[in-house]
Amino acid sequence: MTTSTARMKTGAVTDEFDHAADVYDRLVAANPGYHRDLRRSARRLGLPGQGEGLLLMDLGCGTGASTAALLHEYPKARIVAVDASEGMLRAAAAKEWPENVTFHLARAEDVTPEWAVGLLGGPADAVFAAYLVRNVPDPSALLKAVRALLRPGGRLALHEYSVADSASARAVWTAVCWGVVVPAGRALAGRADLFRYLWRSVLEFDGRAALLGRMRDAGLESVAAAPMPGWQYGITHTFVGRRAPERRGSDGHGARGSGSEGRGSTEPGAGTEVR
Ligand SMILES: C[S@@+](CC[C@H](N)C(=O)[O-])C[C@H]1O[C@@H](n2cnc3c(N)ncnc32)[C@H](O)[C@@H]1O
Repeated sequence: MTTSTARMKTGAVTDEFDHAADVYDRLVAANPGYHRDLRRSARRLGLPGQGEGLLLMDLGCGTGASTAALLHEYPKARIVAVDASEGMLRAAAAKEWPENVTFHLARAEDVTPEWAVGLLGGPADAVFAAYLVRNVPDPSALLKAVRALLRPGGRLALHEYSVADSASARAVWTAVCWGVVVPAGRALAGRADLFRYLWRSVLEFDGRAALLGRMRDAGLESVAAAPMPGWQYGITHTFVGRRAPERRGSDGHGARGSGSEGRGSTEPGAGTEVR
């Protein structure tokens, strides 16, 4: 990782998102598949019954595009959305949302199981993180933190760019960034730092095999990657995994207590509600 990319991930990247918040939705509108692909990844969580009775988290929710994808697929779930950029969250919270969706300011890696339980009313049945894991300083630590937020058997879907395993994907990514994303970003946002960072951070990020390995190392099981269709084939993927279900005791009953390690308090430990 270059020093400038590493520096961005420890804080500057969310400042850049603050700056880009007002134009973010217009930028992603220029990518025709953006919302459809987020819905595809949300669907790949494979949750039943339109999410009825389920508790979901959207980490790195931005202006709410990924939250809207979760809501579209699981309209009956309770959804807690979290982001570290005040500007992006403000733009998200300014939209119309049903009561089952709330937004909170926090760094994803600081979200504790206690805080999640306090907000959701229980451990998460699923976590969705779209374009987040590449942006945090320590992706392995984030994945371990996410595992701790999940109930046993709870599921994770990451929607993320990953091009390191494919020379053609890296070439297409570079052409799209320098031909479209960086010029459009500069024209709309008035500066291009975030978009140059986007290009570089994707090139420097894990390939599919490495990210799946990280997920396994973080204690997730049944990990798998699936591609997006169209020009993003080989570039954007859904990575799914789950926390191991409870082992059944010899009496046939689960060995569960609270369903998560170390959950005692229900007091929020981090984050500020935005709506
Ligand atoms: C590319 S945007 C994606 C937003 C949304 N998930 C979507 O799909 O449109 C990445 C978001 O991650 C947020 N982010 C970056 N690092 C973060 C961190 N450590 N904790 C929480 N949010 C973070 C940024 O503020 C930004 O809103």
